[in-house]
Amino acid sequence: MKQQLFIDGEWVDAPDETVLRSPYSGEAIAHIPAASPAEVDRALAAADRARETMARMPAHQRASILEKVAVLLSERADEAARILALEAAKAITTARLEVQRTIQTYKFAAEEAKRIHGETIPLDAAPGGEGRIAYTMREPLGVIGAITPFNFPLNLVAHKLGPAIAAGNTVVLKPAAQTPLSAFFIARLFQEAGLPPGALNVVTGSGRTVGEQIVTDPRVKMVTFTGSPEVGTAIRNKAGLKRVTLELGSNAAVIIDEGVDVDRIISRCVTGAFSNQGQVCISLQRIYVHEAVFEHFVGRFVEATRQLRIGDPLDPNTDLSALISRQETARVQSWIEEAREHGAVVATGGTTEDGVLMPTVLLQADHALNVSCQEAFGPIVVINSVRSVAAAVDLVNDSRYGLQAGVYTRDIQTALDAVDKLQVGGVMINDIPSFRVDHMPYGGVKESGLGREGIKYAVEEMTEMKLVVWNRN
Ligand code: SIN
Repeated sequence: MKQQLFIDGEWVDAPDETVLRSPYSGEAIAHIPAASPAEVDRALAAADRARETMARMPAHQRASILEKVAVLLSERADEAARILALEAAKAITTARLEVQRTIQTYKFAAEEAKRIHGETIPLDAAPGGEGRIAYTMREPLGVIGAITPFNFPLNLVAHKLGPAIAAGNTVVLKPAAQTPLSAFFIARLFQEAGLPPGALNVVTGSGRTVGEQIVTDPRVKMVTFTGSPEVGTAIRNKAGLKRVTLELGSNAAVIIDEGVDVDRIISRCVTGAFSNQGQVCISLQRIYVHEAVFEHFVGRFVEATRQLRIGDPLDPNTDLSALISRQETARVQSWIEEAREHGAVVATGGTTEDGVLMPTVLLQADHALNVSCQEAFGPIVVINSVRSVAAAVDLVNDSRYGLQAGVYTRDIQTALDAVDKLQVGGVMINDIPSFRVDHMPYGGVKESGLGREGIKYAVEEMTEMKLVVWNRN
């Protein structure tokens, strides 16, 4: 099916197009427009023109557009899930969960639109401040450039559009080249919900041309990006004085202490490791298990992993399907081979079936191997035995990343110590690092990123504080 760019409230052709293929079957599923600099410029100009309209739009109206998007999406939830399964090879049951989360995200954005406010400041706390009234306000930044990844094509777009529109900004969105269909789909819903022309523009094409133009254009006041640290760093370097938020990768870990009822947490850990084929920034990639429960945990984990069903993403019985591309499958396989050559034990998986990489459990993998210290973004988990939670915390921290970490323990002091010492943006006690609901603050330290998402926190990033002082003297 031929797709068009969405610019200034209209669907328009691009001079060129590319064929989008299903990552699972390789079949052509759509023709995607490749915008030239001229279309990107039109999108930026439209977003710039719509700034005033959006900045003046009352909060209740912004909220009602976002509520309407949530309603329209729930009415078309099956269609949206099917798009995700087709373009991202996301198992349909997982795709349905993403659609439900996206509805929540837009609902949170609608609520947040109504409570963007500042605070009063007691200026008389400083000598010379007497007789003055001061308060802060939050104003929209203007045009926001949003660049989104393929792994949650609907919900991670919502994490940019929801808060941006809630705060009265306008957006030029460049969705991932692999998953543009869900972005076009959501743009139609915004159009139907009554968003003014130019407030949202969707442009597809190469990262080099389209992405770079968005990042460097002076009309753009903020760039919000989710993706790899390499691209995130390049964006930061090119963005000049624009505000930049970056949600980047991780090699997220969980620590399992002695005394934990291992049987109760197996299915949760397996889900954390293999959901969406491990293509999740907070996918459970490293498991550090206390030596007292290690053997039991590994036995049960491997058994549960072998039960996972591999196949067509549209089949409701499928748990895992193809990675986003054959190149990614080859890369992840080469990391498994490297681990095997360096003494790691492949307890299960490591092979492909009909192009789908089997969920893979590695034991005794050295800390310096790619499977341990880089972001795998594939269905791999490394399980190692540790002598104590404190030793595991050091291993978790010995990483370029720091997004989220999990600690299962029955000992409150152990949990509190881990919270103090873990160098991450979020610590999950008695849960996996992959836990996320869409209003919580989400973001990392080190190379995992800059700034926070989660609607309220993203609204803060997407607004400018203005101070007002009245002198009564
Ligand atoms: C991500 O991969 O960054 C998002 C994970 C999630 O929203 O669950």
